[in-house]
Amino acid sequence: MSDPKPDSQTSPLPSHGADGVGADLAWIVLAAGKGTRMKSRLPKVMHPVAGIPMIGHVLSALAPLGAGRGAVVIGPEMESLADLCAPVPVRIQADRNGTAGAVLAAADIIDGHDGDVLIVYGDTPLVRPETLAAMVQTRRDADAAVVVLGMRPVDAGAYGRLILDEAGRLERIVEMADATESERAVDLCNAGLMVLDGRVALDLLRGIGADNAKGELYLTDAVAAARARELDCRVVEAPEEEVLGINSRRELAAAEEILQRRLRNAAMDAGVTMTDPSSVFLAADTRFGIDVTLGPGTVFGPGVTVEDDVVIHAFSHLEACTIRSGATVGPFARLRPGADVGPGAHVGNFVELKKARLGAGAKANHLSYLGDADIGAGSNIGAGTITCNYDGVSKSRTTLGERVFVGSNSAFVAPVNVGDGAVIGAGSVITEDIPADAVASSRADHRISPGGGRRYWEKRTGKTASKE
Ligand code: UD1
Ligand code: MG
Repeated sequence: MSDPKPDSQTSPLPSHGADGVGADLAWIVLAAGKGTRMKSRLPKVMHPVAGIPMIGHVLSALAPLGAGRGAVVIGPEMESLADLCAPVPVRIQADRNGTAGAVLAAADIIDGHDGDVLIVYGDTPLVRPETLAAMVQTRRDADAAVVVLGMRPVDAGAYGRLILDEAGRLERIVEMADATESERAVDLCNAGLMVLDGRVALDLLRGIGADNAKGELYLTDAVAAARARELDCRVVEAPEEEVLGINSRRELAAAEEILQRRLRNAAMDAGVTMTDPSSVFLAADTRFGIDVTLGPGTVFGPGVTVEDDVVIHAFSHLEACTIRSGATVGPFARLRPGADVGPGAHVGNFVELKKARLGAGAKANHLSYLGDADIGAGSNIGAGTITCNYDGVSKSRTTLGERVFVGSNSAFVAPVNVGDGAVIGAGSVITEDIPADAVASSRADHRISPGGGRRYWEKRTGKTASKE
């Protein structure tokens, strides 16, 4: 690899060095496209699949290669995308003049680089690291100028078609908009990913013109350019499911379905039981221990860790939280970011936790909101308990010690602390700290009026109430 430039040329991608192809490998992710077919204000590659933005999947697939210098090419108005990619460096493609133009916006990555250049499209999030590595290896073994990732989709649709010569070698790629009838009938399609020989890459790319149906600089024309120089071009094939390109909301939904199936199967293979897998929604980073059981309709946002022997009952929704060994959650529980359910703890139906820790064996079984709260081990939270954590301006914490018993329908007006072993009477509104082992009750006194009920009904109905 050659001279590093002053700005970060070295990829900060975490390197797992899985297979060693990373040595002498530079990479460019194309993500500057306007994504007009998405009909969205959000840059296309920021749309999430399994809870993670598309571009995150692509960068994760690159990481195990242990590649060196690289950058993501983005559009000029995509600051939010640059922030999302950080610390991965970006290059700006000012003029959205096509995929070859996008690669040239990162020409400094290729300039002086003699090794391989891997080009990945940011809208192809399901690609696996092994496939990327196979492309690089194929280029090296064949000493080819270009290796293209191909596929044979059920519906070739708008994909570019890979045209082979009589000897079965890749001759050129024709875009759908430019294809003749017979070319459109070709079922071998361009998945978009490409490996170029760094020694010729810039020459090939700079020779590409825009004389085509879209008036764009097509990266795909690098193949014909290489063949014109009698350089070899190869195809590596991948299953359609892995290289689906996302250009529309329908394709986004199709990718989601494929990835969900992949994630569910991986979880089941690793020791998770799902009573109805097709209704479980996982995030790409959901982590499970073994002997976890998931009921129907359980939904996981990003950042959830579930330890061993946990049961999550039907229709629970979890994001950015931790469920520790042996805990039970749901049905119909909502665990928001920062929830931490301790070992053997119970969270029941219609209970919402946010930035709330339940200690070991603590129980909140019915109809509660626990926000900004710390509940000690073995405490029992009665039905309808609310932590009043927000005063309209700022948030405050409620802290309960161990073995606290909270009667039903109690409210804790935070900030407030309750000591170990305290008992809170049902219906209390707790506004000050309660010492350990105290009983605290703030409900209004009873007024009992004997016969008052009968008098009420007589007055309302004008009839004398019957006595049983
Ligand atoms: C492209 C391929 C097509 C292939 C398909 C696979 C070309 C010319 N065509 O078509 O052969 O079958 O992918 O999914 O390459 N981008 C930029 N700058 C641009 C234009 C695009 O960065 O000026 C980026 C986009 O953000 C996207 C990627 O390049 O991540 C591909 O662009 P897209 O417009 O989706 O190309 P397709 O029409 O899908
Ligand atoms: Mg595309």
